[in-house]
Amino acid sequence: MNPYMVPSMDDLFGGAAPYYARYRPRHAGAAIERLATAFGPDATVLDLGCGPGTIAIPLARHVREVLAVDPDAGMLAEGERLAADVPNIRWIKGDSTALRALPPFGHVVMGRSFHWMDRRAVLADLDELLPPGGVVALAGPSRHDDSEEPWEPAMRRLREEFGVNTLTASDSYQATGEHHDDVLVTSPFRDLEVTCFTERLTYGVEEIVGLQLSYSYSTPARLGDRLAAFTEAARRELLALNPSGTWRLRTVTEVLLARRPVTEPPPRSPARTTPRS
Ligand SMILES: C[S@@+](CC[C@H](N)C(=O)[O-])C[C@H]1O[C@@H](n2cnc3c(N)ncnc32)[C@H](O)[C@@H]1O
Repeated sequence: MNPYMVPSMDDLFGGAAPYYARYRPRHAGAAIERLATAFGPDATVLDLGCGPGTIAIPLARHVREVLAVDPDAGMLAEGERLAADVPNIRWIKGDSTALRALPPFGHVVMGRSFHWMDRRAVLADLDELLPPGGVVALAGPSRHDDSEEPWEPAMRRLREEFGVNTLTASDSYQATGEHHDDVLVTSPFRDLEVTCFTERLTYGVEEIVGLQLSYSYSTPARLGDRLAAFTEAARRELLALNPSGTWRLRTVTEVLLARRPVTEPPPRSPARTTPRS
């Protein structure tokens, strides 16, 4: 694949699925619990842009059913493999442009995926499809946390060297720079509740190298026949930076719950009283 071309929606993460499932930091357990509480045990939840089931799989034991939807066949296959013994997830090839084709659902969660979509169009469709009380939930990095791990500048430089540091999708966050909460507050789902959950993880060099291959920038498909050269260079850079080969990662999952505002009942007209004469 030409690394300068924006891949089609079903190939944004070409070949990344096994790396994503293994090396991308999971969402904090408390974040999954927060989502589960918001949806409730009887819920059918659409996980849109489910990837390899990062949310769908842990969420499934708290709700009635999860519709796990993604345009990337590799992500779906990886998710199905990991959830072979989870009966209440339906894996469906689909995307944000065809929500009406999906079975009915009561709530939606988008984990690190909303930024790829035409967000206003998705919210307008969801306003038609979600029943009263339906929650639109986002889970992902916080706009207020711009801290970087010490290895990130080095990996960014390496991506630049390999010509794989840019990727945008039209109408997405990458194209407009508009934050998710700003999009939500001007949508029908403008009643927002935001909570952040932090976890600390320990990563070795191989895990950080694997993490690079989970990013849409530097997927195996984009790197093509330079994949081995990239991973070797990444290993070298990481060990030069930190010869111990062990890194502590801080991950923040922001859970954003968006609901339609509860409309106040119209004021009752004052009771008419007949003046006594
Ligand atoms: C970074 S992964 C997120 C996976 C998982 N939800 C998580 O929380 O880690 C983003 C996923 O969104 C999917 N995606 C990209 N564009 C999409 C669209 N327009 N509609 C639905 N999913 C999309 C990609 O295929 C990818 O699997």
